[in-house]
Order: sequence, then C-alpha cells, then structure tokens
Amino acid sequence: MPEPKARILFVDDDPNLLLSMRRQFAKAHEVFTAQSGPEALDILGKDGPFSVLVSDLKMPGMDGIQLLSKAAELYPDTVRMLLTGYADFHNAVDAVNQGSIYRFLSKPCLPEALDHALNDALRQHGLIESQREIYLLKRFKRLLEGIVSGFSTLVEARDPYLAGHQTRVAALSLALASALDFSPDEQEVLRIAAMLHDIGKVYVPADFLNRPGILRKEEFEVVKMHPEVGYDILKNLSEEWPVATIIRQHHERLDGSGYPHGLAGADIDKAALVMAVADVVDAMCSHRPYRPSLGIEAALAEIEKNSGTLYDERTVAACLALFREQGFQFPQEAAQF
Ligand SMILES: [Fe+2]
Ligand SMILES: [Fe+2]
Repeated sequence: MPEPKARILFVDDDPNLLLSMRRQFAKAHEVFTAQSGPEALDILGKDGPFSVLVSDLKMPGMDGIQLLSKAAELYPDTVRMLLTGYADFHNAVDAVNQGSIYRFLSKPCLPEALDHALNDALRQHGLIESQREIYLLKRFKRLLEGIVSGFSTLVEARDPYLAGHQTRVAALSLALASALDFSPDEQEVLRIAAMLHDIGKVYVPADFLNRPGILRKEEFEVVKMHPEVGYDILKNLSEEWPVATIIRQHHERLDGSGYPHGLAGADIDKAALVMAVADVVDAMCSHRPYRPSLGIEAALAEIEKNSGTLYDERTVAACLALFREQGFQFPQEAAQF
C-alpha cells in the first residue's frame, strides 16, 4: 500500500501566494489552504490531522501568532511554521521562544528554502508521532500488565493451593527461556502465558480444587480440561501472541503421554515444553490438598529422571543448572505454602 500523503495547511490572506504554494507542493503532499485564521482553525478541525501548518504573520483579524498559538493548544502534534517579513522579526522570535512555532521563514521565501523547511518539519512530525506511539505502547503495556495480573489473581483466589503458583512459574519460565536464548518477544509471550496458564481452572468446581485427598478418576477428568478451557478463553488474542496455544499444551509431554491431546515431540510448542518443566517443579515444591511439599531436590530429581522422555532435555539441563549452580530462587512475594 502506498504511504498516505502528508496533509499540509497553508494560511495566507494573499490568494495568489496560496495558489503558488498549491502548485509547488500538491504533487508530493495533500495541500489545503485557508485565507484567514478562523478558516484555518475550521479546516484543522474538519480535515485533520495535519502534519504541518504554515501561516503568514500579518493577516486581518487573527494574526499568524494567534493562529499558531491556538493550533498549538488544540493540535499539538501538528508542526507549525510562520512566514514573516523582516520588520516582524522580534514578534516571530518571541513566538518561537514561547514554543508555539517550530521555525519561521522570512518573506518572500524562495521555493527551495520553503521546500527544505517543509521537509524538516515533516521529519519533526515523524519524530513526534513515534514518541506518541512509544507513549501509547507504554500505556497499553501497563494496561495489559494489570489485566494479566487481575486474571491471574482471579483464578488463584478460587484455589488456595494455587496462590502465587502462576507468578512463580512465570519467573522460572522466564529464567529458563533466557538461558535457552528465546528472543525478547518469545520471552514476553511465555511470561504472559505462564501468568495465566491455569486460568481454565475457573471452570473446575471449587470443591475439587480444595478437597484433601486424591480426586476420583471422573473428577480428575474435569480438572484435565483446564488447558483446553484456558485455550478457549484466550484464543482470540492476536496470532502474534500464541499465549492460548502455550496454555493449551502446558500438560503435554514429549513422549505423547500428556493431555489434552497427547501431542509429542516437535508438535509441542517449544515455549510449552519450557513451561511444563517450570510448572512441574513449582507444583512439586508446593503443598497440595493431598500431600505436603516434596521439596526442590525431589522436584529436580523428577525432571532429571524423565529428561528426554517427558521433558525437553535442554530445558531440564537449564533448570538443573539454574537451581544447582546459579542459586535460582522463586520470587518471595509469590510465597509457597
Ligand atoms: Fe495446569
Ligand atoms: Fe500450573
């Protein structure tokens, strides 16, 4: 798709000058013109957003400085330039210093000088837009963070044995992914998937989750639906965020003995294989309604014994190194029982 043309508004009370501006720039840009300040404000509101606004200084009624100050207030992302005669130099300098103008040009202005200034102004507008995008992205990231931790808390609130589990699994998954050279994007997707991986347990009756003693076979069948339910809850996230797939596969095992689909080997997402190890290690270290914590050594022995059969070998090796050599600890705030 071709880049949309930049929208530029020229304001001058001399219609001949506006005509020559239109001739000079209409091919490369989308050019609008206005013969007065109020007309310019009307166009800015109706046909915006504009990349650049170029105004004459001396105009009857609202002058250029008044117009550009108003535009700065209403449309701060539009880069503003003032065309002015030498006699108005001091006024123009004041306007620049007040921050309402990016640049002023002396009148009459040679076409090359105007072209050059306009290109600078468009570059400046590009910078403003990227800063705005970064700001928005940061805001969305904070929003996403709040939603993820809210949902994480929601599912954990129903099951006291799950408290802090997803945060701990996220921390260990992230440490493993970093050791296994996942890209920053892959790490972020895995972290969010881990924070929400047991979200499907919202559909499991609370009685099953809190009851001491081993569940009956049919009850366990209900619990085993949670990866699929989690997938259903999150499947509409964008394809760039395969969070739902990782959640669906976090109980799959390398040899096909896992659930819900009995996937094996390369059919399992590599992030799900990493999370499976983190999940098992934390689950074994945590108290359960039917048993006390088994401790980290028992958890590490379990993944070591089943490395290459149930669990991905590289992930197991990275996990053993993290705990045994690098002193990895689960985050304190996500306390274990
Ligand atoms: Fe799970
Ligand atoms: Fe889990």
